[in-house]
Amino acid sequence: MPTSSPRHYLMCPPEHFTVSYAINPWMDPSQPVDTGLALRQWETLRDTYRRLGHRVDVIEPVPGLPDMVFAANGATVIDGKVLGVRFANPERVPEGPAYLAWFKEHGYDEHQEPTHVNEGEGDFLWTGKYLLAGTGFRTERAAHAEAQEFFGYPVISLQLVDPRYYHLDTALLVLDEENIAYYPEAFSPGSRRVLERLYPDAIIASAQDAAVLGLNAVSDGYHVVLPAQATGLAARLRERGYEPVPVDLSELLKGGGSVKCCTLEIRA
Ligand code: ARG
Repeated sequence: MPTSSPRHYLMCPPEHFTVSYAINPWMDPSQPVDTGLALRQWETLRDTYRRLGHRVDVIEPVPGLPDMVFAANGATVIDGKVLGVRFANPERVPEGPAYLAWFKEHGYDEHQEPTHVNEGEGDFLWTGKYLLAGTGFRTERAAHAEAQEFFGYPVISLQLVDPRYYHLDTALLVLDEENIAYYPEAFSPGSRRVLERLYPDAIIASAQDAAVLGLNAVSDGYHVVLPAQATGLAARLRERGYEPVPVDLSELLKGGGSVKCCTLEIRA
């Protein structure tokens, strides 16, 4: 029976959000962005978490860092240990120190600056047992070994192959310790086999659900906050006993992110 547990999230308001460069296929700098609308949609997401009983802390956005709203990329935190990030694209590099500074200021004494490129929870998804780790577009394979050494949990490396699903959290959703949903076409044949072996009962997302970033969702073990456009996935989740909680983040989709991208989980 899916059961929720209280969570602790870090989020960053999209006060400076815009699309001024393109580092993934979703971003088109010639398309107008409504920053006010992005902010209102983000506030709805924050309020949804709080209504569900979760704690949300907020980090101050830095002017000139339009992608800082995508807090999932800010760190990976397990057992109160903080692995900092190193971005692949120069546009986002300054976000790494900004997020690490927040953790230092808030009393997280066990932290490490990474040697290899890793984009935090964009590519590292904690199941409670394993750290599922994406590579292919952003996070380097060497960073998987670095994370395993730092956290002391088994890391499962997964190869991403479709540029639209450039981060693991755009193609795979952790529901709880035993269950995931994913879009197989985003992975190499070998990685698909790995996922089939580990999760034979996984929910398989359709191309339509993947294309609205439906898998870029956040589960507390029972409630699954997901992009409102992912109606097929919501139905599948309901069948399995989860409670889908749709939220519209259409404006942030122009940056190539949705619910999960805006949410960094802090695990004590
Ligand atoms: N524009 C951002 C980038 O391309 C979006 C990041 C989305 N974050 C995520 N966790 N998938 O880096």
